[in-house]
Formats: sequence, structure tokens, C-alpha cells
Amino acid sequence: MNLGVIGTGYVGLVAGTCFAESGNDVTCVDIDEKKISALKMGRVSFYEPGLEELVRRNLEEQRLSFTTDLKATVRQASVVFIAVGTPQDSDGAADIEQVLATAKAIGQAMDGYKVIVNKSTVPAGTADRIRALLAAATSHPFAVVANPEFLKEGAAVEDFMKPDRVVLGGDDSQAIELVKELYEPFVRTGNPILIMDARSAEMSKYAANGMLAAKISFINEVANLCEKVGADVDEVRRAIGLDRRIGPHFIFPGIGYGGSCFPKDIRALIGMGEPVLEMPLLKAVDRVNERQKGVLVEKVKRHFGADLTGLTFAVWGLSFKPRTDDMRDAPSIVVIEALLKAGGRIEAYDPEAMEEARKIFADRVRYHRRNYDALKGADALLVVTEWNEFRRPNFQTIKELLKSPVIFDGRNVYDAQELKRLGFTYYSIGRQNG
Ligand SMILES: NC(=O)c1ccc[n+]([C@@H]2O[C@H](COP(=O)([O-])OP(=O)(O)OC[C@H]3O[C@@H](n4cnc5c(N)ncnc54)[C@H](O)[C@@H]3O)[C@@H](O)[C@H]2O)c1
Repeated sequence: MNLGVIGTGYVGLVAGTCFAESGNDVTCVDIDEKKISALKMGRVSFYEPGLEELVRRNLEEQRLSFTTDLKATVRQASVVFIAVGTPQDSDGAADIEQVLATAKAIGQAMDGYKVIVNKSTVPAGTADRIRALLAAATSHPFAVVANPEFLKEGAAVEDFMKPDRVVLGGDDSQAIELVKELYEPFVRTGNPILIMDARSAEMSKYAANGMLAAKISFINEVANLCEKVGADVDEVRRAIGLDRRIGPHFIFPGIGYGGSCFPKDIRALIGMGEPVLEMPLLKAVDRVNERQKGVLVEKVKRHFGADLTGLTFAVWGLSFKPRTDDMRDAPSIVVIEALLKAGGRIEAYDPEAMEEARKIFADRVRYHRRNYDALKGADALLVVTEWNEFRRPNFQTIKELLKSPVIFDGRNVYDAQELKRLGFTYYSIGRQNG
């Protein structure tokens, strides 16, 4: 099938490439000319494991192409996906301007029947607004399908290729059937394609992120209480995770969630409720998360004092989570800004996010090519993102390089007993060592 995908970010590029990989002819469109020129040469502007290889293969085999020409793309496609950004507006609610502008542009470009599928995360009712804009812009027939995307950065290709479920929302059964066919190759092991009305489909995405964020804020709140009452959150986590109603996933304590989705989606959900329903639970989820981003620096100040002038901190991990270079709303930003504000100096390392970090911190932070290089002469190490390569480091080397053997572990990646035995002063989250 001939497909068009508007927006070549994490969602659009992954979706477009995976649809090409399953044999479709896909054209991806973006307004960012630099991104498109790079993609034409097989270069992806962000780090996502496995994606660049897949882009290159499909480019070479001529099933995938890139352009800034939306009109031509819409005209040759039977199905057009919208995958543009839906950031937070000044009140915290979802800003769907890019989606609406794209819908209008698609309408103006149409020269025959098209199925328009929205993958951007949008408030319930947006499919109706897309439909109204299209109707105003074209006299050609069309159908609109809501198709929220559930992929995770860091495992985006795998998630797209093997989704837990696909959600399709709309009332045009022929259009739904067409989109369903596109997803069939990815659900061969029996994972379901759920068909529902558009508003429920749109709501499903926010509800999923709301639930996941709530789990994180819940365990972080429990972790903070564990510290106060002499319990160990890792033991508590294991104990509750074995309850099948709770499950072991997404109950790891840390320094809060970040990234391009959870923070804005939780606020969008609150914003969606604002005119019609108060949302005290989600407001608390957000508040707990904001507080959690500060806990590591509180520990640093408890150890060194509030004034950090003259002290140097090595920071391992900058991206909001491992296996991505995405720095959007990363807890590392809050941590580093607070350390800098208190007079500290930062020596930073991240396996993939250095370039993105430079855009935020510029030369206020020093960047290193190796994680151990960041440690030389530092007063302490802060582990901020749990990249695999930080999990079993050479502690002897760390001890030799640091000025004093102090580790603040924001992700509970180390064994507190072992570090104590090795002579470290060790702080982590919700355990009896900090
Ligand atoms: N990133 C994720 O992990 C993820 C997961 C699921 C859902 N989502 C949702 O999917 C949507 C896209 O997210 P993303 O992370 O891919 O965003 P992104 O910011 O990485 O990419 C969006 C792209 O759209 C392009 N764009 C904007 N307006 C355009 C227009 N008029 N025409 C053509 N291109 C245009 C931008 O230049 C950009 O390249 C958002 O609604 C997001 O909430 C994201």
C-alpha cells in the first residue's frame, strides 16, 4: 500500500520505517529540511537502537523515501498518518496546533478518497476536530481513524514490530479494516487489534501514561517514607511486585520520570479534566514527581552542606532514561541546575545524550568521552540515568579517581552492602544508607 507519514520524530519515523519494512511504499514528510536531508542519506537525527539500520535498508530497497512536500505525498498515498508533536501549552494542557495545521494541509492537498490516521497523542474529541477541518478544506471523501501509539523510546522499533496491542478508533468500518491490514504483520503472535470509538482510543493513550506515571510516583512516595521509618524500598518493591494484581514492572524508585511524554501527558490529562472534572490523583502524581527530582540534591546538601562552592560532581547519565539521547524534561536537568546554582561544578558523561545536553547546558558543564574521565578529582559521583554500562563498573578505579569515595545513586543500581564494604559512603533512594 502507498502510505504517507507526516512528522519524522520518534513516532513518525519508527512507524514509517516499520511499515516500509513490512512491504509498503512509505513517504515520510517533515517541515524540518535539515532532518529530511539527513534522512535522505540514511542518517537519523536522534538515537534509537536499531532504527538507522532499518531506515538505510528500506531506503536502499526503495520502499522508504523522505520529502518536505506534503501535497505530493498526500496525493500518492491511500493512507496518511499524522505523527507531529503535541507539546504542552502555557497552561499545561495539550497543544494540538501542529495536528490541526497538518489536518488542514492534508485536506487542502487531497485529490481523492484518503484515510487519515492520527498517531499523535491528543485529547478525546480531536478526531472530530480533524474531521471538521478536513471537511472544510476538501470536497473529496475521507475517513479519520484514531490510532494512538504506545511505543517506548529506547525500544521503539521492537515495540512497534511487536506491540502488546494496537488500538484503532473510529466509526468507518472500511477505513478501520484498511488500517487493520497494515498492522496484521505485527500481531502474528496473537496480540489483539482493539477496535473502538475514536474518543475511547484517544483516551486510552493518556490513561496508559497516567497509570504508568502513577506507579512511579507511588513507589517514589513509598521510597521516601521507607527512608524515614527504617525500611528498604527494594525489599518492599519485591514483596508487592509478586502480587499478580500489582506486578513487578514500573515500580522501581528513582529521581522521577521525565521525557517527552509522561510529564506533558499527565498535565494534558489534568487539563482535559479541568473544565469538567477535578483530577486530584493525577495532580498528586505530578506533584510527587516534581518533588522527587530534588531528592538527590537534598542528599548531596545534607552530606556536603548547602553551599557547594568549590566542589565538583561527576554525573553519569543525562538522558531521561537509558537507550535514548532524549533530554526532554530529563530529571538530570533539574539535578544539574540545582548543583550549579549551589556553586558546584559538573563533570558529565552520557553514552548518547552529550550532544543534546550541550544544547541545554552549553559550557556550564564539562563533558567527557569516557565515564571514568568524569571522575578525576571529583568530590562525589552522582548516578542519574541507569545505563547498563554503569551497573557493574570498576569500583576500585572509581575510588582511585574520586577525591572522596562518595556515591549518590539516583536509580538504586548498586548494592549498598557491597559499596559499604568497599569503603564508599553511599546514598540511594528509599534504602537505609541515605
Ligand atoms: N516519543 C515517544 O516516545 C512517543 C510515544 C508515543 C506517542 N508519542 C506522541 O506522538 C507524537 C509525536 O511525538 P514524537 O516524540 O515523535 O515528536 P517529535 O517532536 O520527535 O517529532 C515531531 C515531528 O513532527 C514535525 N512536524 C511538526 N509540524 C509538522 C508539519 N506541519 N508538517 C510536517 N512535519 C511536522 C517536527 O518537525 C518533528 O520532526 C506526540 O503527540 C507524542 O506525544 C510519542
